[in-house]
Amino acid sequence: MKIISVVGARPNFMKIAPFIKAIKKHNENNGNKVEHILVHTGQHYDDRMSRAFFEQLEIPDADINLGVGSGSHAEQVGNTMIEFEKVLRENKPDWVVVVGDVNAILACSVTAKKENILCCHIEAGLRSGDMAMPEEVNRLVADRLSDLLLTPDRMSSENLKKEGVPDNKVKFTGNIMIDTLENNREKASEISIEEILRDNSVNETWKSIGKITPDKFALMTLHRPSNVDRKEILEPIVRFMIDEVCPEMPLIWTVHPRTRKMLDNFGLLEEVMSHKNLLLLEPLGYLEMLKLNMQARVILTDSGGLQEECTVLGTPCLTLRWNTERPITLREHGGASVLVGNSIKTIREEFLEAVKKPRIPIRPELWDGKTAERCLKEIIDYKAI
Ligand code: UD1
Repeated sequence: MKIISVVGARPNFMKIAPFIKAIKKHNENNGNKVEHILVHTGQHYDDRMSRAFFEQLEIPDADINLGVGSGSHAEQVGNTMIEFEKVLRENKPDWVVVVGDVNAILACSVTAKKENILCCHIEAGLRSGDMAMPEEVNRLVADRLSDLLLTPDRMSSENLKKEGVPDNKVKFTGNIMIDTLENNREKASEISIEEILRDNSVNETWKSIGKITPDKFALMTLHRPSNVDRKEILEPIVRFMIDEVCPEMPLIWTVHPRTRKMLDNFGLLEEVMSHKNLLLLEPLGYLEMLKLNMQARVILTDSGGLQEECTVLGTPCLTLRWNTERPITLREHGGASVLVGNSIKTIREEFLEAVKKPRIPIRPELWDGKTAERCLKEIIDYKAI
């Protein structure tokens, strides 16, 4: 069997790493080998957004890089399709495997089906219901086209059922990202916070801030266009951080390239850079981020993946979004996260609550570190009906 799997952007890397390990393990123990080709679309191209993850997560270099780079959504999707079609015609795989919700999965699932190749979506069935979110469009298309839909939780399987996807196409295999978390927990705990600050700070603040104590700092990531592309949204968030979080505890902010550009455009970067209790860091590697997550008092984020990691680690998480495709991570379902949108009033109330909350790690069903093996087994055992 020949499988082509695809990655494009940062959140894909932690999902593909365990899948590649599962193939390796299968090939060591079976005569019936799986041939695997890894394709990187090149959407994320910085060392910090891409290469660092390959190294830390021991992902082999991509066999093929489509070199698509950044651009508008149509440019990214169109260019990926043009290049990926050539790859499929040349390599003729039995399966294309896509993970997560970034632009690559839309482009590659459409191309695979046009070439009449079986397609499997790992992390299928997540729905935010928000069509203004590019990732929601990507999820809908990939799920509509895929032959095998592997879901991270039962709610996602239910979503697919409601959309009329036949039962035999949907398999509940668990959350593949938690495989990566479990594989790296120990390594991450060995890194010191001082080391992380020294090696990743964008300025000199780390030298004067003093010791960062576990459980006594806040951590923030922001990158969604809905939070960072408009000054009237981003500025009040920055004000809240500076005026209300930083006086309480140091704030570590790992800044995505899109967000940094926007802070600069809106004339906010200098103030953020010069605050003495705000540590602005470059995008971090997986292990460094995991370490900070394990020790932060509270996380403020608009990332989907962090919401899931916070649930398993028990870190109180304020999700700066109005909706989520991952309801299983929410407080009302036992998780560690609460939706606060970009309303400063709600962010404030929940921040004050969160800093008092104890860590209560929870482990949703099949978030057990063994998802990748189940995914591979479903692909190998697949029988078209
Ligand atoms: C993408 C994903 C999103 C994911 C996020 C995590 C889609 C639709 N969105 O959004 O689901 O949560 O990644 O990181 O696929 N840039 C760099 N260096 C890079 C990559 C990007 O400087 O290595 C710049 C680009 O030039 C662009 C901006 O960052 O201006 C945004 O990059 P883009 O790939 O459009 O989407 P993300 O916002 O990263």
